[in-house]
Amino acid sequence: MPPPAAAAPTAEQFPARTAAIWAALDPLVAAGRPLQVLDVGGGSGIFAVPLAELGHQVTVVDTSADALATLARRAGNAGVADRVRALQGDADRLGGVLPAAGGTGSFDLVLCHFLLEVVDDPHRTLQEIAGVLRPGAPVSVAGANRAGAVLARALSGHPVEARALIDDRDPAPGRARPARRRFTPDELLGLVRAAGLQPGPWRGVSVVADLLGASSGADPAAVRRLEVALAESSPYRDVATALHVLATRPADAGPDGAAGAAALAPE
Ligand SMILES: C[S@@+](CC[C@H](N)C(=O)[O-])C[C@H]1O[C@@H](n2cnc3c(N)ncnc32)[C@H](O)[C@@H]1O
Repeated sequence: MPPPAAAAPTAEQFPARTAAIWAALDPLVAAGRPLQVLDVGGGSGIFAVPLAELGHQVTVVDTSADALATLARRAGNAGVADRVRALQGDADRLGGVLPAAGGTGSFDLVLCHFLLEVVDDPHRTLQEIAGVLRPGAPVSVAGANRAGAVLARALSGHPVEARALIDDRDPAPGRARPARRRFTPDELLGLVRAAGLQPGPWRGVSVVADLLGASSGADPAAVRRLEVALAESSPYRDVATALHVLATRPADAGPDGAAGAAALAPE
């Protein structure tokens, strides 16, 4: 028998390194009607399971069978297996993965977190996502920040790699696997716009949390609050580990040019 559903998670339970993302999602997901959420490249459910615990129906599309097995286990342990659907498939072919499961054009919220770094074609991935979003609905996009990677490499004693990253060169050429992509804020916003999505302001994710050692002794709740305070303003956000933006699929114009669908708003 599955364990009973736990109480809905609160902001205090989320790690400080993703506090800025949860703070941005909070007005959309914390209250109101249950949403149909798609987590593309959602992996083992770091975001999917807490969203299911908040009452939302979450579909995760990921290429990794291992990650999806961990997701199923985690969802079962949290008592929300009935609200989490796992589909093995490629983000660059979402249209082919979702119709069988019934979902194209109907998601109220899509997450695309730390995926654009590794897909074959980030532009294609965002176009696919735009196609499965309900008109007027938001997508939450997070990706590695190049400036943050430069700082992290330099502070961990790798100045040559840090220097290469400044110019977006591979910090370790010769490896079998291609280097992960990293983005400047303009590059990430440009990709979002090119997919026909309207980005809001960008945030820095993990300005200090990744730089603090586990042994720093800092109060995690205070670090979380600091992360949220730092996320929206320069110069702090510029050197964060990652970038985050909420973007919206424009509502379709009706026959008279009026918006045809309401944007997602908390009820
Ligand atoms: C860095 S993890 C991010 C996981 C999760 N989104 C998070 O924020 O914790 C990247 C995930 O993307 C998945 N992935 C990689 N390429 C993919 C693709 N082309 N389509 C779908 N998922 C992919 C990987 O299996 C992995 O689970």
